[in-house]
Amino acid sequence: MAKKLDPSWKIPEHVAIIMDGNGRWAKKRGLPRNMGHRQGGKTVETICEEAYRMGIKYMTLYAFSTENWSRPEDEVSALMNLLRSYMKDCVKQAEKNKMRVKVIGDISRLDADLQESIRVLEKESEKNTGLRFQIALNYGGRDELLRAVKSLCGDVKEGKVLEAEISPELFSSYLDTAGIPDPDLLIRTSGEQRISNFLLWQLAYTEFYFPDVLWPDFSKDDLIDAIAYYNIRERRYGGVTHV
Ligand code: FPP
Repeated sequence: MAKKLDPSWKIPEHVAIIMDGNGRWAKKRGLPRNMGHRQGGKTVETICEEAYRMGIKYMTLYAFSTENWSRPEDEVSALMNLLRSYMKDCVKQAEKNKMRVKVIGDISRLDADLQESIRVLEKESEKNTGLRFQIALNYGGRDELLRAVKSLCGDVKEGKVLEAEISPELFSSYLDTAGIPDPDLLIRTSGEQRISNFLLWQLAYTEFYFPDVLWPDFSKDDLIDAIAYYNIRERRYGGVTHV
């Protein structure tokens, strides 16, 4: 029987996902790793649609990390090609689902045509009022923090910001995720329990959920399980809710 959301559940506003297990999914089927990434790309489409239907407002997916460049050259280039075609197809998908897409990470290291497709997708979808979808691409939490620190130092030097004004809120506005609330729930598929340099600042108070399922197999039911888990967790933000 298909699983259902319980109407009494609180729906997390922002869900971040580390999509792990594409390689193992392919290996289990005797396929090349790239087929796992391709199937993973299809899962991205379904999960974005389902998430929005469930009432999730923001989704941030880790598509390519600053460390992923060290993978074999053919895998990196297959991933880049997959992302290249995704950025193009996504323009139509974003229009259909009213999805607003933003890429976080340092895109300056990507090929010029991919950078251009990203700009087009962001521009074309910027007025959409549906799911706010962030794709982390050439993203690393430490890299993001350092870029933010450098940019903030520049503004302090130029007198645009006073040192005394630096607060967590002001610092957040220098991150790639400026204007986006911190994730309420992080899901990492495939049973691994690490955050692998993802959203280091933003995950400070996030609930973590580590299902065993491999990303290409991640389904609507798995997302419902994740929301159920989120609902049994107690979020205290360092305070005390009962004594
Ligand atoms: C980790 O699995 C997955 C990645 C490094 C890439 C994730 C990318 C996609 C799902 C492609 C499409 C993305 C978008 C936004 C369209 P792994 O290769 O480390 O798997 P393994 O641990 O089983 O080897």
